[in-house]
This record gives sequence, C-alpha cells and structure tokens, in this order.
Amino acid sequence: MTSKNLSRFGVSMEESLLERFDQLIEEKGYKTRSEAVRDLVREKLVQQKWEQDDQEVAGCLLLFYDHHQRHLMGELTTIQHDYHDAILATTHFHLDHHNCLEMIVVRGNAQEIRTLRDKLLSLKGVKYGELSVSPVSEP
Ligand code: NI
Repeated sequence: MTSKNLSRFGVSMEESLLERFDQLIEEKGYKTRSEAVRDLVREKLVQQKWEQDDQEVAGCLLLFYDHHQRHLMGELTTIQHDYHDAILATTHFHLDHHNCLEMIVVRGNAQEIRTLRDKLLSLKGVKYGELSVSPVSEP
C-alpha cells in the first residue's frame, strides 16, 4: 500500500466478536484485518448513500417472519398494496411450519423504498429483514 493519505486508528471489540470477524476474514480471503475493515466501511457508506439519496433505485427486500403472528399477513399485504407502484414482484417461500421468507423486488425513489422497508420491518412478527439496492442509472 503506497497511499500517502492512509490513517490508522485503534478498534476495541469483544474477543468473541473479533474471533468471528477473523473467521469471516479467512473465509472471504482477506490478507489483513485492515483490508476487511476498509471493504466493510466502503460497502456500508455506499449502501447508506443509495438509501439516503433522492434517486431511483432497484433491488431486493428480504423479510423473514412467523406467519402465525396475529394480523401480520394482513398488514404485510396492506402495506404492499399501498406501495404497489414500487413493487415489481413478491415471492413467498414457506421455510417450515412457522417461518416464511419473502423476497420483494422493488424499484422506485430511494426515500420511498426506505420508508417501505421501515414499515415492513417494524411489523410485529418480522424477525429479520434486509434491503439491498443499487441506483438504476449511473450518475
Ligand atoms: Ni409461508
């Protein structure tokens, strides 16, 4: 690395977390922790920029939930109908007796997509969710 503008900083974390991080580093093939941290930071910043900018994005929203949760199925459907313009497709997978995985393909204004994500993720019974988007057209 020959960059003149390289800064160093110390990071403190629990040993168990560091162990898992080192495991990830090995799995992903990074040579150093620094390299891995840089990539994670870049990834996070890019994702945050796309989510905040007022531009058209497209991507996928994953939802994991327990369909036995009272009212959840109805609420999920109502919200998705409210955002029908931004939803290209929804695919539902029954993972087991309780758990469902829903893959929602979205396209629309970044702010609108972010609001949709927040509404769906905050529903009681939704255990985990993740939005991954990219700008539709390069600036
Ligand atoms: Ni299901």
